[in-house]
Amino acid sequence: MSDYVSSSKAQINPEAFHRIIDGYQVDLYTLKNSNGLAATITNYGGIVVSLKVPDKNGKLGDVALGYDALNDYIGSTPYFGALIGRYGNRIANGRFTIDGVEYQLAQNNDSNALHGGRRGFDKAVWQAEKVDSSDGPALRLTYTSKDGEEDYPGTLRCTVTYTLTNKNELKIEYSAETDKPTFVNLTHHSYFNLKDGGASDILGHELMIKASKFTPVDKGLIPTGELKPVAGTPFDFNQPTAIGARVENDDEQLKFGKGYDHNWVLDRQGKDLELVASVYEPTSGRFMEVLTTEPGMQFYCGNFLDGTNKGKGGTVYQHRTGLCLETQHFPDSPNHPDFPTTELKPGEKYGQTTIYRFSAK
Ligand code: GLA
Repeated sequence: MSDYVSSSKAQINPEAFHRIIDGYQVDLYTLKNSNGLAATITNYGGIVVSLKVPDKNGKLGDVALGYDALNDYIGSTPYFGALIGRYGNRIANGRFTIDGVEYQLAQNNDSNALHGGRRGFDKAVWQAEKVDSSDGPALRLTYTSKDGEEDYPGTLRCTVTYTLTNKNELKIEYSAETDKPTFVNLTHHSYFNLKDGGASDILGHELMIKASKFTPVDKGLIPTGELKPVAGTPFDFNQPTAIGARVENDDEQLKFGKGYDHNWVLDRQGKDLELVASVYEPTSGRFMEVLTTEPGMQFYCGNFLDGTNKGKGGTVYQHRTGLCLETQHFPDSPNHPDFPTTELKPGEKYGQTTIYRFSAK
């Protein structure tokens, strides 16, 4: 297997991430598994900064979009590689009710709340600890979100462990506990490009999603409440299909999303970790499988990328050069009692596990 020197981009300098923020030390951590795969992760936002996996010739390449330096992550970013919380995805008008009390969150996405608010978990400094196991090298991140932070009720103690397993998986295990009833929906927001890490578009990537329904949305990308069959629509990915094949179809839902930016209702057997999606990139041969315990997955094809983000190695991320597979509960669940609940009560334990598994063929 090739090493960093022969891989497509230079190694990121940890010095560019070594800084004190809010009185806490921020750094860049490297996980390298027994097959030479490597992930770099910063405890600022729990961001996966780079992820090097082999192509069909064994050549390592970075498949995640992001920046070379911490500074670029601190301002406004499209959540490259970040942990998202307390509530991943949208809450209509930033409003919900718990036990008869109405809460108003920041409306940071038109009139809606998105991805935890003005300063979500993607901008929090997490405490980091290397906790290597027999599965592979791991980084445990902990963060306590104070009662009232971003106007959510309850002190939420969160732990997220990233393991780069020796089976070539990036495993993400989340847990959380609260001291007051609250809503929680944690997810991960890597933008993947299995071909070249974002230098060209992802339209030729072949996507499979095991889902017979999705949650259609209104113009503001809030679910209407319907679970709509994907059969006969551009949302049917049960057979692997190139993302670009139907993304420009004349379809109201695609217009609302400006492309794919929707939640799929995963066809699952139970609540255990299950394979729910895969992506194959034919030129590199890279193949990524997604396993999760979650009921839903937002597939977002980078419609809002427009060349304004200059990323690693000077790469400018143009329209649809990265794709996100955000395993989660459904958007706006607090306002849809029929959706699987996202409420967490004191004494309960929130948990979710998601694996991105890499191979090549
Ligand atoms: C999510 C949303 C998108 C967009 C991106 C970040 O995937 O669903 O609409 O906001 O995050 O740009």
